[in-house]
Amino acid sequence: MEIDNEGLASVAQPASDPIAATEADLNRPKRAFSGMQPTGEPHLGNYIGAVKRWVQMQDSGSINFFCIVDLHSVTIHQDPDELRKRTRSLAAVYLASGIDPDRSTLFIQSHVSAHAEACWLLNCVTPLGWLQKMTQFKDKSAKQESVSTGLLDYPVLQAADILLYDADQVPVGEDQKQHVELTRNIAERFNRLYGQDGPTFVIPEPVIPTVGARIMGLDDPTSKMSKSASSVRGHAVGLLDDPAEIERSFKRAVTDSSGEIRFSDNPERAGVNNLLTIYRAITGRTTEQVESDFASARGYGDLKLKVAEAVIAELTPVRERYQQFMQDPAELDRLLARGAEQARAVAMPKLRQMMHRMGMVVVGG
Ligand code: AMP
Ligand code: TRP
Repeated sequence: MEIDNEGLASVAQPASDPIAATEADLNRPKRAFSGMQPTGEPHLGNYIGAVKRWVQMQDSGSINFFCIVDLHSVTIHQDPDELRKRTRSLAAVYLASGIDPDRSTLFIQSHVSAHAEACWLLNCVTPLGWLQKMTQFKDKSAKQESVSTGLLDYPVLQAADILLYDADQVPVGEDQKQHVELTRNIAERFNRLYGQDGPTFVIPEPVIPTVGARIMGLDDPTSKMSKSASSVRGHAVGLLDDPAEIERSFKRAVTDSSGEIRFSDNPERAGVNNLLTIYRAITGRTTEQVESDFASARGYGDLKLKVAEAVIAELTPVRERYQQFMQDPAELDRLLARGAEQARAVAMPKLRQMMHRMGMVVVGG
């Protein structure tokens, strides 16, 4: 199999033994894996906390895998046609944001069957109590009338995603830290239980941004900007919103009565802090530079307009490229098929190694 990305090939084709260990070689380039569910409208929090940083990681020399995790989405009931539409749409969002399919492996999770298979194997080494303790499971299950087994198992599928690729780094927002920590525990447990020929998995690290790991809702700066609340008027800025909508959302943003434009961890000033954080994350300026940018601002009206302007300047080209990608679904599918092929070439040998180590009869190459 031909793989463009240097460094992938060595893992995709282990020398002579198909089940040879693919342990971390300290000199190999770092690997990064991340993903997003194709549910709800992607928003500014997703962009700042995840996608924008994935794009930047492409220049860091790491080998990157960016996945559209459709199997995670069905842990909560989805309309099938809607899910298909959103899956392609999210692929176009990744591309439009700057994920370059020649430099990163971009693919749909369900196209690589190893994810579901590895999830089963990892289920068998994961104590039930670990899953019952996950805060996201507790939050989400409290909102469901009927809780699927898949919702409880969600973090094990996420562990499979990460571990199949020997990822060292998992760039995510703050809310995913617990899932990555669970992945580490599962990997360590597997390495210990089936360590007869050495460790199977690389132990991954969550990579949480120092700025913008938790963008808050514009309507309520005490709660995280989230897809599930994104239909609430004034809560989120959609990644694909047009400039007028973006400006309207910022104009409505909740602030306070102090009138001070400074970063602050005072909960009463959370609204202004959130606006400054968005501005800082988007422009890449330092705390001091941001505060000096606003030193001559006349009140919160000015602040809101300036933040809206920065966000519009960043998202307008993304929206335009998105529209172009959506006009050519055949090209989109072709890119996704190529990504799936590259991903499979890495994931399948790892799955076979897991199976062999657990005692399955692994035949073929
Ligand atoms: P989700 O919206 O749950 O599909 O999250 C997709 C990615 O965006 C994950 O890496 C999240 O951690 C990140 N993310 C989601 N909401 C926010 C937010 N409000 N601020 C920063 N990152 C976020
Ligand atoms: N659970 C993540 C979220 O909701 C999505 C996800 C699935 C993920 N698999 C992953 C993120 C692997 C990082 C790595 O945001």
